[in-house]
Amino acid sequence: MTTRHKFLLLAATLLAFYGTAGAQSRGAAGPVGRSICDTCACTPDNVTPVTVNCTCTKTKLLIVREQDTAILSSVRDLTLASCGFVSLPSSGLSSSTSLARVTVRDMKLFHYTAGLFPALESLSVEDVGELVLDGFGPANRTLRHLTLRRTTVLRLVKGTVTAAAPLRRVLFDRVDVDEIESGALDMSFVSDSDNGQQAAADGFTVVDSTIKSVQTGGVTVRSGAVRILNSTLDDLASGAVVVDDARGGIRLSGNRLGEMTGDSVSAIRWDGDASVHVDGNVFRTLPADMQLLRSERPAEFVGNDVDSVDLSPFLFGLGPVVRASDNRFTCDCDPRRISVLKLNQVFPGLMQPDTDSRFARLLAENYCRQPANTTLAGYRDLLVREIACKGANLTVVQPPHSSTAQSPPSRDTAAPNHGNTVGTATAVYVTAAAVATSLLLRNLSVS
Ligand SMILES: *[C@@H]1O[C@H](CO)[C@@H](O)[C@H](O)[C@H]1NC(C)=O
Ligand SMILES: *[C@@H]1O[C@H](CO)[C@@H](O)[C@H](O)[C@H]1NC(C)=O
Ligand SMILES: *[C@@H]1O[C@H](CO)[C@@H](O)[C@H](O)[C@H]1NC(C)=O
Ligand SMILES: *[C@@H]1O[C@H](CO)[C@@H](O)[C@H](O)[C@H]1NC(C)=O
Ligand SMILES: *[C@@H]1O[C@H](CO)[C@@H](O)[C@H](O)[C@H]1NC(C)=O
Ligand SMILES: *[C@@H]1O[C@H](CO)[C@@H](O)[C@H](O)[C@H]1NC(C)=O
Repeated sequence: MTTRHKFLLLAATLLAFYGTAGAQSRGAAGPVGRSICDTCACTPDNVTPVTVNCTCTKTKLLIVREQDTAILSSVRDLTLASCGFVSLPSSGLSSSTSLARVTVRDMKLFHYTAGLFPALESLSVEDVGELVLDGFGPANRTLRHLTLRRTTVLRLVKGTVTAAAPLRRVLFDRVDVDEIESGALDMSFVSDSDNGQQAAADGFTVVDSTIKSVQTGGVTVRSGAVRILNSTLDDLASGAVVVDDARGGIRLSGNRLGEMTGDSVSAIRWDGDASVHVDGNVFRTLPADMQLLRSERPAEFVGNDVDSVDLSPFLFGLGPVVRASDNRFTCDCDPRRISVLKLNQVFPGLMQPDTDSRFARLLAENYCRQPANTTLAGYRDLLVREIACKGANLTVVQPPHSSTAQSPPSRDTAAPNHGNTVGTATAVYVTAAAVATSLLLRNLSVS
């Protein structure tokens, strides 16, 4: 059953129930004709309240009628909490032009129809079992803060947030999302100069959340920071997260990352000292050509755990001021990993001192997952002495009949040098690595 079906069914059921209850009590003080301030706490308690707090303590049903919109026209702050069912005018509260802050809490389901709150500046949704968000309608020009906590959203649809919104901060905290469609979160962050105070725009933060898939162009962040922390992202399409005029940097920390490509998270322009931190993540497949690590920008790639990567284009493609240390890679006899470790042997004299020392440092400061605490340099020595992967020559490779060559070669290997910012010296080595790898691949596919 789709979200919409469930919602309509729930609405129909509850309306039928409400109709019965209403008919029975109509003789006394029936709900018909009551104002929203009879069921919700309005302050000040007069005809022009500024704050309305609906906690649904008296009844689980909250019906906001057309006649309530006059009262709501003065309201700035609205809380809807713990209601089993909320009915709002289908056309939205078009005269609620002061209503800037809305909080929705503790509900099984909440459907935010486009245009519901036309002047909304801040929406906070917490503990909602299923949030359906159609977009913000006219509030696409006023929205500044969007906070979702402990909430499930099946699908963030195209146009949910548009570039017209003067955003300050967007936060997903313990949020579950199945899919972020292309064009769903098109976010432009602006600094706030209200009250003469210069408050810097913040950006987009995802914490402790689970996002199954982000389509191409699903998330765009302009002039804001991007932080994705302690979250699980199963499938990031190419161009899933694009950062334009990166301000405040990009941080990916403590995440579990599934399918992704080199440009799943990318930056197209940079502001000032913005830098990149990629640390403590678990990569199922680390793209060898990860764009964030190939630029001239300072970047840190530290303490990550990598299941699968094409090691030679990855190491040789790292930008000149990228610090990569304390990462743990799978070390086995897969030629995609051992080719680069034996490079010095296969092309003796190829390395020049400057690149050589950088490469040597990368090998010394990064590790194998198994054998535990073995550096890549240590593993290289085991390979060279044929203690590990005995007989696995670089240019002469055994057919993949055993555990010595299980993984299929990645398609990146055929054209590993996507980076256009690598220095000339490095480019030579990339080519050398590519040659070595492609030799061995050709032989693999023949066998
Ligand atoms: C709304 O009312 C509930 C219960 O009366 C209270 O706990 C809560 O703090 C109120 N919220 C606001 C924003 O006034
Ligand atoms: C904002 O919403 C209005 C009304 O729904 C719509 O007509 C307009 O195209 C939207 N603006 C942007 C920039 O998407
Ligand atoms: C992420 O998880 C780590 C380790 O559990 C914790 O130390 C850190 O505070 C968490 N970060 C956030 C932003 O929750
Ligand atoms: C690896 O090194 C860490 C810290 O240096 C140490 O605590 C751990 O026991 C070592 N593990 C093995 C298997 O040697
Ligand atoms: C690996 O290379 C060495 C020297 O080039 C050669 O003697 C040996 O037979 C090769 N091993 C295999 C399994 O082809
Ligand atoms: C494939 O391996 C053979 C040895 O088994 C070697 O002579 C040949 O040069 C290799 N081919 C390519 C294209 O590298």
